[in-house]
Amino acid sequence: MHPMLNIAIRAARAAGNVIIRQIDYVQDMSVSEKSRNDFVTDVDRKAEAVIIDTILKAYPDHAILAEESGSRGENEYQWIIDPLDGTTNFLHGFPQFAVSIALQHKGVLNQAVVYDPLRQELFTASRGAGAQLNDRRIRVSKRRHLNGALLGTGFPFRENARIEQYIETFRILFPVTAGVRRAGAAALDLAYVACGRLDGFWEFGLQPWDIAAGALLIEEAGGIVSSMEGKQNYLDSGDIIAGNPSLLEELSKQIKTVIKN
Ligand code: IPD
Ligand code: CA
Ligand code: CA
Repeated sequence: MHPMLNIAIRAARAAGNVIIRQIDYVQDMSVSEKSRNDFVTDVDRKAEAVIIDTILKAYPDHAILAEESGSRGENEYQWIIDPLDGTTNFLHGFPQFAVSIALQHKGVLNQAVVYDPLRQELFTASRGAGAQLNDRRIRVSKRRHLNGALLGTGFPFRENARIEQYIETFRILFPVTAGVRRAGAAALDLAYVACGRLDGFWEFGLQPWDIAAGALLIEEAGGIVSSMEGKQNYLDSGDIIAGNPSLLEELSKQIKTVIKN
């Protein structure tokens, strides 16, 4: 295993322990609202601190981009961290949240970990070496068409302005698939695409830390992630679609009919 992936796993497990230890004390937790419907707790901050600590102990010069503390340092290696993806779920005891850690080298995603501490599911990938769930190789689903597909999605809950556009995409996709799930943790949604539990995924307005690790998992599992326009700048754009290559083509065609208008 790549040594940097090893560190990412150590950091993700440590953050998972912080999250699990606090799960019974959610009611007493102090919660602040970063912006409308965007919450942060001490658990997010503690989990992030443990991750950064673990990484910098091993690689003191590496740069960091983390959801709660922002960016620090400059280096050709940059870690992209979401310490708790699915904070709203966590606060409600809804069992769907994860730790997400990715490493970019010269702007290319190289290592990825998404860890679900409740189910103890560890999704990992190293560029060129495939993707795994708890050490077993995973692949994206083989379903070629939207007909019969199960899609994951997320709602643009922070951006009222995009709700209409989102609803348009939902209106065209929902009737032509077997179903749509909104589970509330984008990093896990992407991990589920990587292992074939979901056939595809779309969401507007994500941040790099929601996407980075999940995107490499999908690519290493034989799938594709792109912006809604089919471009590779998905980390910057934050509007993403994902799936296996043939399903993605259909998904992209459908979505383009909406975003062109
Ligand atoms: C959120 C979750 C959610 C997605 C949001 C994200 P957070 O992350 O991934 O599924 O719809 O856009 O912000 O805030 O819980 O880390
Ligand atoms: Ca997130
Ligand atoms: Ca988060």
